[in-house]
Amino acid sequence: MADTMAGALKRQLDSWLRMNRPQISQIVAAWEIKKQQICVNLRNLRTILLSMFVTHLECSACHLRHDWSRLQNLCTACQKPLFAIYDLAAASRRLRRETLATRKKSLWRYREVLPLPEGVEPVSLGERGTPLLRAARFGGAVGLSQLWIKDESQNPTQSFKARGMAVAVSMAKHLGATKLAVPSAGNAGGALAAYAARAGLEAHIFMPRDTPRANIIECCELGAHLTLIDGLITDCGAEIAKRKRAEGWFDMSTLKEPYRVEGKKTLGYELAEQLDWRLPDVILYPTGGGTGLIGMWKAFDEMEELGWIGKKRPRMFSVQATGCAPIVRAFENGDSTAAEFPGAHTCASGLRVPKAIGDFLILNILRQSNGGAVAVDDEEMIRVTRKVGLSEGLFVSPEGAACFAALKSLGSAGKIASDECVVVFNTGAGIKYLDCYET
Ligand SMILES: Cc1ncc(COP(=O)(O)O)c(C=O)c1O
Ligand SMILES: [Zn+2]
Repeated sequence: MADTMAGALKRQLDSWLRMNRPQISQIVAAWEIKKQQICVNLRNLRTILLSMFVTHLECSACHLRHDWSRLQNLCTACQKPLFAIYDLAAASRRLRRETLATRKKSLWRYREVLPLPEGVEPVSLGERGTPLLRAARFGGAVGLSQLWIKDESQNPTQSFKARGMAVAVSMAKHLGATKLAVPSAGNAGGALAAYAARAGLEAHIFMPRDTPRANIIECCELGAHLTLIDGLITDCGAEIAKRKRAEGWFDMSTLKEPYRVEGKKTLGYELAEQLDWRLPDVILYPTGGGTGLIGMWKAFDEMEELGWIGKKRPRMFSVQATGCAPIVRAFENGDSTAAEFPGAHTCASGLRVPKAIGDFLILNILRQSNGGAVAVDDEEMIRVTRKVGLSEGLFVSPEGAACFAALKSLGSAGKIASDECVVVFNTGAGIKYLDCYET
């Protein structure tokens, strides 16, 4: 027995010794790959074990399931956005709406309905939520007795883009991405630059050359790799798509990555909490890619499933610029998707999105909620900015101002009643748009 084993061992040894160098290095390389695979599998296992309530990603169009615990972009079958799905019955046993008030004021107080596994430290810049402010004077001037402003300019990097990037960068880092790329109209780029720097990751940002100067300078000072493109955000996205494989970039384009919308959905959770779990009658949202609108709608459905709110939903209105109004046009035409808007131009750079990948989701929400879509021209946005400034003490972004401007036309068209609870989103800070103003 011992002889046969010794013989086998000797034969094995001889065959090894007869091997030439390339074969040995092939074996070593194969072992290295195996080792890396084992490491990835162990990390995935750890992620799954530590996960709280997220169960999978689901395509928003064809409902195909995808693994949430690896880096994903669009649905592999139909190239539409993926949504994170949670075990909300289990989450509701651990997180009650009353519990929220006892937690630290932070976006991460909704941890059970966010995808980052327990025990994983979020990438944070101290996002503490934003105030819901009464706009009594402006409301009075347009005949609304219950007008509110959700002032998102009070987020890190002065816009609501921080919510999406806080969650998406935390997840990208956790799932192993090292180089993050994004096409941006301005504020998303600034937010990615900040959160990537905080995470110690590379940020590669592509913006139209005529993006507001503040956003450009902000990205540079936050150490991002910035490329200015002679074109629109869609051209920036195309450039990333072309180069990302060779460069090793993870594509953080809104809704082409599943977790920015998860961060943005906290808008809906926070709003419900601030209104004591009664949703407003009407929401006005300045719509580019529509991620915040889609996220809020997702939050409302989740909160209903959690048993926190009832069936009632606000009427959702998308506000766009007359120079770039693909959603308004599609809504008015009764279309289920929005054709690319030709020659897009507006000083509200966040609204300069001629084609949105989530168009079918936005249009569906506007119709399902019995809301609508309104376009406002740039002159009106700038004029109304000063009115809001004077009456409410806020220097709002042109995108936010567009929503204030839309109130008047919606009121006179009988689409908002004077005693309804109306919430306008000021998505960013006016101070970032000095290019729009003559001194
Ligand atoms: C200030 C501001 N408002 C609104 C938008 C549009 O946001 P969304 O893509 O969620 O429609 C943007 C996007 O860049 C923005 O920067
Ligand atoms: Zn699909």
